[in-house]
Order: sequence, then structure tokens, then C-alpha cells
Amino acid sequence: MIAVGALHTSCVVVGSGIAGLSAALAHGDCIVISKSGLGEGSSRWAQGGIAAAIGDDDRPALHAADTDRVAGGIGNREVASIVTRAAPDRIRWLTSLGADFDTGGDARALLGQEAGHSRRRIVHARGDATGAEVMRTLVRAVSERPDIRRLDDTFVLDLLRHDGRVVGVLACTGDGERVAVVAPSVVLATGGLGRLYEKTTNPPEVSADGLAMAARAGAVIRDPEFVQFHPTALDASADPLPLLTEALRGEGARLIDEAGHRFMVGVHPDAELAPRDVVAREIWRRRLDGAVYLDARMIGPEFPNRFPTVWRIAQGVGLDPRQDPLPVSPAQHYHMGGIATDAAGRTSLAGLYACGEAASTGLHGANRLASNSLLEGLVLGRRVADAIAADIVGTRHPAVVEVPQETLDLELRDPPDIEHDVAELRHLMWTKVGVMRDGPGLEQATIRLGALACRLSGHPIGRNLVVAAQVVTRAALDREESRGSHHRSDHPEPGPRPASTFVRSARLESGVLELQDRDSRVCLV
Ligand code: FAD
Ligand code: SIN
Repeated sequence: MIAVGALHTSCVVVGSGIAGLSAALAHGDCIVISKSGLGEGSSRWAQGGIAAAIGDDDRPALHAADTDRVAGGIGNREVASIVTRAAPDRIRWLTSLGADFDTGGDARALLGQEAGHSRRRIVHARGDATGAEVMRTLVRAVSERPDIRRLDDTFVLDLLRHDGRVVGVLACTGDGERVAVVAPSVVLATGGLGRLYEKTTNPPEVSADGLAMAARAGAVIRDPEFVQFHPTALDASADPLPLLTEALRGEGARLIDEAGHRFMVGVHPDAELAPRDVVAREIWRRRLDGAVYLDARMIGPEFPNRFPTVWRIAQGVGLDPRQDPLPVSPAQHYHMGGIATDAAGRTSLAGLYACGEAASTGLHGANRLASNSLLEGLVLGRRVADAIAADIVGTRHPAVVEVPQETLDLELRDPPDIEHDVAELRHLMWTKVGVMRDGPGLEQATIRLGALACRLSGHPIGRNLVVAAQVVTRAALDREESRGSHHRSDHPEPGPRPASTFVRSARLESGVLELQDRDSRVCLV
């Protein structure tokens, strides 16, 4: 038995993006753990905004129908209805906490347009700095709550278990000390999996930790193969790639090739505002022949005021969007799949909850509608707190907890240098498990990931990356069809039966990952 320092609380929230802080504020009396600073993560970087049916011509039912239309036939309509109905109230809540959303002369919210939305319904702040404003608001609200304790710069390594329940987490502080945080309920709000891909818009801390931890503990994972690629990241030598918000296309920006030809017009009736997967694939194809540009010159002299974030990004590489078309590339952006939950954030394991991008409620199905992610974090963060309040009556702290041996064996103070292997993994995922996929490429990726697993399994971040990469790749190989963001050039059409993928029980043993599907069929990868 190994003794580690322990903290006790009624709830531990892992992650302090929009989902984690929404959950913490609704639950109260909890510890919030963040890998870096409070409020760091993708949420702060969000540009376009939050979708909510608050316009005179709009209704939640229309928003739900738009959400479902892009979901590739596997979206959960009940969840879409719950989330879209809650949206206006969640915007009012943020406003009551002090969020300063952009308004017009009549003091009503200015609503932006993005792809796939049949109405203008994107609430935004300081043009394209919505995430920064929302996170400023939530961080301040949490800081004013003495019942919410925080552990910053603390990396959660794994889930603690006892008697078949999840009962806390094992973490590593910035000083390299292990600490057990024991709690009857654990909320994973760890965000997506951007770090798996060579080209991503996500910040570095978004590295599939929650997905990997949950998978190791045997939680059911839903639809891991559905990874969204944003069509318009700036094509620059930067990591991550800076995002050029879809709201630019909503305001008329066009995609052109090197000859200045506006190519999306012939591809989809909605042209530049076609669903993201359609636009991303077309840009991918065009880039095989030459550069592709986003031409936002028509936005004119107002550009710096209307899109200050994109303005700064462009200026940083010596471009002026009022005069220069901006070179673009698709980049990994969002994970529709994740830890399977019900509409209240309950996972398949007692005591474990998930919300935000780490979770898969089924809302997005095979493809996500723009600006529905911040919204889902806001709504499910709140709902998860309600579910915990309903579930935990009478649960006591255990005296002894179980931690997987390989987690105790991790070298925390001086972990092995994995930079080279992580670069290979990210390249592999981008080229073989990216925008365009096929069977032979996915097979190759599977074999290479097996070799990388042996080398990365002793590293706290490396092992999460490789587990998540294997789960995504395996599910992509098994899905022999094209649906939403998952496109197989060897199976270009959707199959006859739209259905979600469920994966259970992924664990690293001697560098070999076992995946089990719902019918307990075991496959070694
Ligand atoms: P995040 O905000 O990513 O937070 C994850 C948290 O988990 C962080 O605090 C991190 O420190 C913590 N964490 C992770 N692993 C560990 C660990 N092992 N131990 C401890 N802590 C851990 N969506 C929209 O709806 N509208 C937009 O306009 C929009 N624009 C976007 C622009 C960009 C550039 C990006 C990258 C994304 C954008 N998205 C947008 C998507 C959206 O921002 C994210 O899906 C959403 O913010 C995810 O929120 P989250 O709370 O789930 O996770
Ligand atoms: C964007 O602003 O283009 C991103 C919006 C989103 O990911 O929802």
C-alpha cells in the first residue's frame, strides 16, 4: 500500500473551462482542479460566440432542428431540445454575472450568423472575443465563492475507485507531489483532444486526459471517431494554428483558390456556409493543387473593430485583412465523441460525471453546429450539478481507494522525453486519421500507434494521448462508411443504418491496448 496526501470534498471538478466552472458554480462546495491556471483551455479562445434562439424570428425548436440537421442522422433529439430550450436562460445568467455581450442601439443583443444556422442567433462579445469575456466572467464569479476551492497547476493522473464507484482522483501538484482528492462525485470537464493532431486550433493543455482516464477506468466512450476539422485556420507555421472565425464567412467572406476563383459555389447550395465538414474537405482537396484563401476584404475599414482577434492574428503575420486574402488550412477543432453521458452528465460509472467537450451527450452526433459547444458546456455544467445533488444522498468517503498500479509507477518528477514520439503521433493522426481517411491508412496508423504505446505508456501525458489516439483510430477503422465529419474515401457514402459507436474498457497493459465494444467483443490493437 502506498500512502499519499489526501483532501476530502463533496465534489471534485476536473477542468476549469466553461463546463467545469458552470458545474462548480451550480454545485458549490467543491474543489476545482486545473492543469494550468484557472480558466485556461479552449473556452477562453472561443471567437464566434454562443448560439441561443433569442431573436424575434427564432425559436428553440428551430435551433434544435438546425442542430439535428448537421448531426449526420445520429444526433440525440431529446438532448438537442433540452439544450436549445435552456439557451436563452443561460445567456441571461451570464449577463447577470456581468458578461458584457455586444448589443445594438436598442440595447438588444447583436446576433451573428454562422454556417448551418437558419437564423441569426450567435451571441458574441467584443466582436470575436466571446470566450475571453465569458471566462473573465466565470473566473471572477468562482473567485468570489469561498465554498469553491481550487488547485491550479495540478495534473489529474487518474480516477480513484472503491467498491465499483469512482470516489475521487489522484493528481500531481506543480511541485511533483501526489495528492488524492477524495469525493463521492467526480466531474470530468477536461475538454477535447486537440493535442492528438499536428494541425489544431486547440491550446496545448487540451490533450484528451479525461477521455483516457475514463476509458482506463472502463467508462463507455461514445462516437470517438467523430472529430471536427475547422475549415479556416490561418495557414501559418504556428502551433496551435490561429483560428479565423466562421463568423467572417457569416458576414460575407469568401473562399478562393490561387486564381481567385470562388470554388464553394459549385460544391454546396450554401457555398461558404455549408456544414463545416463539407467546407473542410473541399479545402483539403483544393490544397493538394495549391493555396486556398479566405477573402474578407468586403468587410472593409470596420474590420479591426468587428473582428479584433482575427485582426491581431493577421497583423502578427504581416497581413492586412482589409487588403490581403488570408491563407487557410483545415485544422482539428472539436471532438463530438467523448465520455458517454445521459442528458444530465451521468456516465456509465457510478460517481463519475462528465460535461463539456470531454463528454458525449449525443447532442452533436457526427458533426457539430457552430457555437453549440460553449452552449452545451453552460447547460450541461448546470445539469450535472443537479444530477449530483439528486444522486449522492448518503454516500460516505472510503478509507482505502484503488489506483491502477501503472499510474503509481509513472515517473512524475523526471518523466522521459517524449517530444519526438508525440510529434510522430500527431503527424500520424493528421495524415491518416484526419479530414480524409481510408482503410489502409487507418490500419497503418493502428500498427504505428501500437509501437508508440510501448514508448509512451510511462509518461503521464503521453499515455493519455496514445490511449485516445487508439480509441479514435480503432472506431474510425470499424466505421466503414462516411458520415458527418468521418469521411472514408474507400467508403464515401453513408451506410444504411445510422448508429452511434460505443467503446468500453480500454486499458494499457504492457504497451498493448485492449478495446472492448458494447457486446464485449475484444480486439487487440
Ligand atoms: P476547456 O475550455 O478546453 O477546458 C478544459 C479544462 O480542463 C482546462 O481548464 C484544463 O486545464 C483542464 N484539464 C484538462 N486535462 C486536465 C488534467 N489532466 N488535470 C487537470 N486539469 C485538466 N465553441 C463555441 O461554441 N463557439 C465558439 O465561438 C468557439 N470558438 C472556438 C475557437 C477556438 C480557437 C477553439 C479552440 C474552440 C472554439 N470553440 C467554440 C469550441 C469551444 O471553445 C470548446 O469546445 C469549449 O470551450 C470546451 O469547453 P470545456 O469547458 O469542455 O473545456
Ligand atoms: C468559430 O468562431 O468559427 C468557431 C465557432 C465554433 O467552433 O463553434
